[in-house]
Amino acid sequence: MLSKKIEKALNDQIRIEAESSQIYLAMACWAEVKGLEGVAGFMYSQSDEERTHMLKLVRYVNERGGHAHVSALKAPNVTFKSFKEMFEKLFEHEVFVSESINELVHISLQEKDYSTHNFLQWYVAEQIEEEAMARTILDKINMIGNDKGGLYLFDRDIQQLTISTAASEGAE
Ligand code: FEO
Repeated sequence: MLSKKIEKALNDQIRIEAESSQIYLAMACWAEVKGLEGVAGFMYSQSDEERTHMLKLVRYVNERGGHAHVSALKAPNVTFKSFKEMFEKLFEHEVFVSESINELVHISLQEKDYSTHNFLQWYVAEQIEEEAMARTILDKINMIGNDKGGLYLFDRDIQQLTISTAASEGAE
C-alpha cells in the first residue's frame, strides 16, 4: 500500500511524463511543418516513449492500492526560433525530469517504501540514457552550425537513431 505522500509524488510524476509527451508532440509538429521529416519522426517516437513512461507509473500506482490521476496539462510551446533551440529545450526538459525522478527516489527512501524505490530504478537508468542522447544530439547540432548540407544530413541520420532506439527497446 502506498503512503499518501508517495501516492501524491507519483501522481505528480505521472503529470510530468504526460506533459513531456505533449511537449515532444508539439516539437514533432513544428519539425514536420518545417519539412524536417527525420527530426519529426524522432520527436514522434520520443512523445510515444513518454506516454509509456506515464502508463508504467499509472499502472504501478493503481496496482499498489493508490489511484492514478489523469489531470489537466500545461500547454506546451508550439513554435521555436530554430531547431537548435528546440533541441536545447528538449535537453533542459530531460534534466528537469531527472531532477524530479531523483526527488521521487529521495521521498521513497524517506518513506521507507523499498518497492517504490526498486520500481524507480528503471526511471533512473532511463534518464541517464535520455540525457546522454540529448547531449549527443546537441553536440552534433553545434558542429553543424548554419550549414544547410549539415542540416540535411542530420535530418537523415536522426532517423537512424530513432530506428536503433526502437530496436533496442524491442530487445528489452
Ligand atoms: Fe520520461 Fe524523457 O523522461
